[in-house]
Amino acid sequence: MATINFIPDNIKHEVEDGTRLIELCDEIDVSLSFGCTEGSCGVCELTVVNGMKNLSRVTEEEENYLLEEDLENGMRLGCQLVIRKGDVEIKWNKLKSK
Ligand code: FES
Repeated sequence: MATINFIPDNIKHEVEDGTRLIELCDEIDVSLSFGCTEGSCGVCELTVVNGMKNLSRVTEEEENYLLEEDLENGMRLGCQLVIRKGDVEIKWNKLKSK
């Protein structure tokens, strides 16, 4: 099992290893938004505060969309993420209320 902490919403959730973040967000009530769902709009941009090693590798879409500097600072595209294992903490700029 993995645990993900959605910092802006103060929600922690346990998930099966290998869960796609976008699927989890569909099932639970978090304020992280998604748009295109395929790595090209940036709506799902977030920062990984802890547990980057527990997430899937940076995809080609993320490399194309995010600046190298953003990636170095822990930014990722939520629609591209798979929670592989362990603990992960993410934050984002909250646009809408829950
Ligand atoms: S939803 Fe568009 S980049 Fe993730």
